[in-house]
Amino acid sequence: MCGIVGYIGKEQAAPILLDGLSKLEYRGYDSAGIAVYDGSEIKVVKSKGRLKVLNELTHDGASMPGTVGIGHTRWATHGAPSDTNAHPHFNKDESIVVVHNGIIENYLKLKKKLIERGYEFCSDTDTEVVVHLLDYYYHGNPLEAIAKVMHRVEGSYAFGIMFADFPGEIYAARKDSPLIVGSAGDGNLIASDVPAILRYTRSVYYIQNQEFVKLTADSMTFYNMDEEEITKTPTKIEWDINAAEKGGYEHFMLKEIYEQPGAVRDTFSPRLKDGKIVIEELGMTDEEILSVKKIHIVACGSAYHTGMTCKYVFEGLARIPVEVDLASEFRYRDPILEKDTLVVIISQSGETADSLAALREAKSKGSRVLAIVNVIGSSIAREADNVMYTWAGPEIAVATTKAYSTQLIAQYLLALKFAQVRETIGEKEFGEMLTDIERLPEQIEMLLGNKEKIQKFANRYLGARDVFFIGRGIDYAISMEASLKLKETSYIHSEACAAGELKHGTISLIEEGTLVSAVLTQDHLFPKMISNIVEVRTRGAFVMAVTNVGNVEIEKNVDYVIYIPKTNPYFTNSLAIIPLQLFAYYISIGRGCDVDKPRNLAKSVTVE
Ligand code: F6R
Repeated sequence: MCGIVGYIGKEQAAPILLDGLSKLEYRGYDSAGIAVYDGSEIKVVKSKGRLKVLNELTHDGASMPGTVGIGHTRWATHGAPSDTNAHPHFNKDESIVVVHNGIIENYLKLKKKLIERGYEFCSDTDTEVVVHLLDYYYHGNPLEAIAKVMHRVEGSYAFGIMFADFPGEIYAARKDSPLIVGSAGDGNLIASDVPAILRYTRSVYYIQNQEFVKLTADSMTFYNMDEEEITKTPTKIEWDINAAEKGGYEHFMLKEIYEQPGAVRDTFSPRLKDGKIVIEELGMTDEEILSVKKIHIVACGSAYHTGMTCKYVFEGLARIPVEVDLASEFRYRDPILEKDTLVVIISQSGETADSLAALREAKSKGSRVLAIVNVIGSSIAREADNVMYTWAGPEIAVATTKAYSTQLIAQYLLALKFAQVRETIGEKEFGEMLTDIERLPEQIEMLLGNKEKIQKFANRYLGARDVFFIGRGIDYAISMEASLKLKETSYIHSEACAAGELKHGTISLIEEGTLVSAVLTQDHLFPKMISNIVEVRTRGAFVMAVTNVGNVEIEKNVDYVIYIPKTNPYFTNSLAIIPLQLFAYYISIGRGCDVDKPRNLAKSVTVE
């Protein structure tokens, strides 16, 4: 979603802001702008569209001299994407300027009051109330004005703020929207996400809820809402800077698909020790594991799909009942949670608003919350009782691939750990399953070797109108993810259908030439799936199957087959999804779509 960058120091600010914003492009945006203090006043340039436009308007920053500035990429929520609604926003006399991520929920009420006091609004944004409210409370002391605004606004925010009266200072404040501060040697930076400032610093301070910060070129001072100074310790970011660059690949999505063997290995290997699974960060004794009577997995989008898969893994291996919920549903359905329920929140970004709200709901009901998160220090990571990190590294493409794969691995390890403690699987089976997990990276590698074959097949379906993905059990969960990957990147309508449900409605959509992708990795469901394939083929469907190597009899029943290497049936998702990710990628680029930044989507959904 929206992105924030700010710089104050000895260098020219505009090129640093534009560079930082370019690193946040992946989050999704539809307009962008920067504000720079030029030595006598604050200048703003902003525009609808891609950063390219802003670069052109500012001659790559050269036409905006000054060493202090803030910048923003906006993903429209309140008010359409337009030059006027783009941030930064000024107060009336252009002496205060604000950029904002998040949503001000009481903005209509505040706007009404400000209008009554004579303020005029020129945009449709909720953000504009913030700058007028700052103006209202500002009587020469920025700290006081910011603290008062923080007390008045409801909702979520990360603000970057400049006052023309204090040209040697930048302010930033936060509630429920990520914000970090970093020191760059000859200056200081603010950002909403690490990649924006990774080039300048690896040492960052996380601003927590209802805190704010004042930056000068050579100092940073942190405050709570009572304007009291607070101390903070920096966190070292270990990410490899190249991980946030394309590194020779045409797109981030393809690069990240190719990074999956490494990401999967990095996620399991530190947790496998001498034939045992050691998850220290789980923070649970064997007695506590034994006392868990139920697991709720809660997440959004692809992360939810990993939960759908791992329900089968947990229930099958550890014999614990598992409920899987969409976070946006869970948070409002007054879920029944007992003390012996473990809630597992899964999130790549660790900032997804619904997942964060679900976490808080679970905690408020007394449940223990374990988070499976990729971004270190993110809100979900900080607020959960325990965090198990996935080691996917920075994921830039909006459509997740490698984070998805690592979320599966983290849950396999957790399920196996629970199964071992609860003695629901034998030692031999446990050992064999660890070996299967350790073989996944090389098997994924093998599947990636087939990319030309998949590209050729994908090219035949660039004009498809609808695609259906069918499967049963884990294969249905795989189908849900494959369908989401295809629709979000290529804009082709696709649906996942539990194969047994076809004849209860969806089969009416099958006509001559409709592409149906059938996933058959569960041997005990194979004959049932063949019957479903026959049903759709009889109605004219062209069927592409993804199945285990050796299932050659399938060739009689389908039009195209992709074989995946043999693994334990609980882990087949990790392999079957690879060709289906490639399929979505090639269809998307074949159709000329912006595969890394699909329309209307954002990488980290920090608003509801
Ligand atoms: C789809 C995709 C999204 C995310 C979802 C949750 O490719 O990436 O569906 O999985 O928005 O995001 P996180 O995992 O950051 O909570």
